Amino acid sequence: MKTILVTGGAGFIGSNYILYMLKKYADIRLINLDKLTYAGNLENLRSIEGDERHIFVQGDILDKTLVSGLFKTYQPTAVVNFAAESHVDRSIENPGIFAETNIMGTINLLSCARAAWETADGSYPAEVKFLQVSTDEVYGSLGETGFFTEETPLCPHSPYSASKTSADLFVMAWHDTYGLPVNITRCSNNYGPYQFPEKLIPLMIHNATNKKNLPVYGNGLNVRDWLYVEDHCKAIDMVLENGRNGEVYNVGGHNERTNIAIVKKVIALVQQKVDPTVTESLITYVTDRKGHDLRYGIDPEKIRRELGWQPDTPFEEGIELTIDWYLNNGDWLHNVTSGGYMAYYDKMYKNR
Ligand code: NAD
Ligand code: TYD
Repeated sequence: MKTILVTGGAGFIGSNYILYMLKKYADIRLINLDKLTYAGNLENLRSIEGDERHIFVQGDILDKTLVSGLFKTYQPTAVVNFAAESHVDRSIENPGIFAETNIMGTINLLSCARAAWETADGSYPAEVKFLQVSTDEVYGSLGETGFFTEETPLCPHSPYSASKTSADLFVMAWHDTYGLPVNITRCSNNYGPYQFPEKLIPLMIHNATNKKNLPVYGNGLNVRDWLYVEDHCKAIDMVLENGRNGEVYNVGGHNERTNIAIVKKVIALVQQKVDPTVTESLITYVTDRKGHDLRYGIDPEKIRRELGWQPDTPFEEGIELTIDWYLNNGDWLHNVTSGGYMAYYDKMYKNR
């Protein structure tokens, strides 16, 4: 039986990964270490309550005693590190926590993994691996043409992407210096169930269904490359199983859209499924994000060629699945948007 230490498994992508892995593998054990920040939510894991293959531990990836204790108790042979502060706008307001969690937290996990796995002669058992879940934002911004490959120079702009880039460099440092077996995945923007409604797609679904203004930054022509979250989970699983030691794999499905096109799509679906009076008049152009990257676009050729990965869910299908999920899970959305969420929303959007 394989045991994986999954960090941040109560967040958006981490919880989707846990559900994906438990569906796919009968003989597996997932130790889920999550601090349960504003973005972590045990409701995401309600459908697997009581499943003995999933062990939830509330705690911080920065806690050395806790993390080394988890290695001793459960002896995982893999770490998949999702835990992070993940929202660019928050990183612009409060960069320090991004450095702590994303950089120092990753360093602590790397140190604990090395301490647990390195043998007396400095080698590692064949089955161990540290997989860092990273982002295409480490490459910076594209102009009108071209794509990010694994060779594109790292050139982050936001405090969030700077912290993720630093973490990637530390992961490679542990590989190059101590020989730790590692992989890094760099995925484009994800969407799907359980995404916190501070991110573009769920925020627009939430606001449109409540007939609130839809805040579009700048001119709405920034481009993101959207991937359905389950396709990202599949890629992580494939890289963990068969990725070549020390390699980076970009993950994306060639699905670039302007932000305004995404917002109009959400409006059209909400109009059709919920309320015919929801129209594009809700769109409100607001002050642009500081340092707003113009365009992201992934070249996924390496993961396709080496591992045979390709996405299963086209955007038209994925966006409909996502809207249906939010419509059918009103309680989930209500619970995460009550309380502290409104204070966040007012702070970020009131004077824009
Ligand atoms: P998220 O914000 O939804 O979830 C992050 C999770 O990490 C939460 O459950 C939170 O409680 C937990 N966490 C935060 N600090 C922690 C700490 N100190 N110790 C333990 N747990 C902690 O983020 P997400 O969108 O699911 O992203 C997951 C990972 O994937 C991140 O590393 C992110 O950089 C990366 N990523 C995200 C996207 C995307 O589109 N969302 C794309 C590419 C890569
Ligand atoms: P976001 O979901 O925050 O992801 P990221 O910044 O990591 O790409 O934002 C996606 C795009 O949508 C980005 O170009 C900023 C834009 N955006 C808006 O126009 N309005 C909003 O309210 C939000 C949250 C994002």
